[in-house]
Amino acid sequence: MSPRALVTGGAGFIGSHIADALLARGFSVVIIDDLSTGRRENVPSGAEFVQTDVRSTDAARTVREGGFDVVLHQAAQIDVRKSVNDPVHDASINILGALNLLEAVRAAAKRPRFIFASTGGAIYGDFVTPPNIEDYAKDPDSPYGIAKLAVEHYLAYYGRIHGLDGAVLRYANVYGPRQDPHGEAGVVAIFCNRLLAGKPLTVFGDGRQTRDYVHVKDVAAANAAAATAPLPRIGRLDARAMNIGTGVETNVIQLAETLRRVSGRESLIEHAPARPGEQLRSAVSIGKVQQLLHWKPERSLDAGLKETFDFFAARQS
Ligand SMILES: NC(=O)c1ccc[n+]([C@@H]2O[C@H](COP(=O)([O-])OP(=O)(O)OC[C@H]3O[C@@H](n4cnc5c(N)ncnc54)[C@H](O)[C@@H]3O)[C@@H](O)[C@H]2O)c1
Repeated sequence: MSPRALVTGGAGFIGSHIADALLARGFSVVIIDDLSTGRRENVPSGAEFVQTDVRSTDAARTVREGGFDVVLHQAAQIDVRKSVNDPVHDASINILGALNLLEAVRAAAKRPRFIFASTGGAIYGDFVTPPNIEDYAKDPDSPYGIAKLAVEHYLAYYGRIHGLDGAVLRYANVYGPRQDPHGEAGVVAIFCNRLLAGKPLTVFGDGRQTRDYVHVKDVAAANAAAATAPLPRIGRLDARAMNIGTGVETNVIQLAETLRRVSGRESLIEHAPARPGEQLRSAVSIGKVQQLLHWKPERSLDAGLKETFDFFAARQS
């Protein structure tokens, strides 16, 4: 019988690519998504779709009774600025939603492994010099980062006290086809749409702020590897946390120039005032995931950006 996976947020950007990757590896896949930001057309035709909120009893029942080998929890409120404006709403989805699923895993006759989508960009804070390693101090600067870290703590607790099997993947800045141009992480999608519209690319501040851009298909491959890999016992906060990125810092000007080059489009780069509180440098170290999952990113930034631009160009035409 094929292994069974549940992907929450599977109608979204990253979750839908994870579903694709798991189907390609012979998993049978169920997706839970409330379509708040996800799209029905992102759900692969080979997956079963349950439209519900991760906080619901429906979602809990699906986890409890689904006979899953693995749950990959991607559903979230992903906008850092929204989390600042409404931390209660953020915590409701990002903490209580995860807890609802974890309690269902605990109650399930067959307990699936729980893989949690955390963040490498928003939990280490700005006090350390990148690339960040997993053991660095956590100092989240937003309710979004605090919620992600809280769920990591819950996962460590469930591992230690209840023997749950789990892993944490801390994504850097993920980009690629199907990304919606919202939130800071959507800068590649935003720039692609601006290039296609012949509009200038807006850079905040001097554009020297760096991020670690990782292609969504590489992130999906890391999740597929984490679904089945033998892993050390969970129990300590960072024991099964792995950064998923490239280890390379790229600044916004470099990103804009690379996109212009690979797309062959001419848009100007315009500067807007720096955004208060914006992190200056961010990149993650990927030594641990290479060791534990034998995973490394396969796509160069040039190739990944070209593929992404072509996706948005095709969607527009
Ligand atoms: N995009 C990035 O660069 C990045 C970086 C770090 C971490 N992450 C994490 O990766 C995960 C996926 O992010 P994404 O970029 O694909 O975002 P996305 O918005 O495309 O996907 C999130 C999905 O979750 C669904 N969802 C939201 N609230 C829900 C709820 N209450 N119940 C059920 N479904 C709900 C949405 O409809 C959407 O389909 C998130 O957990 C996010 O925090 C993303």
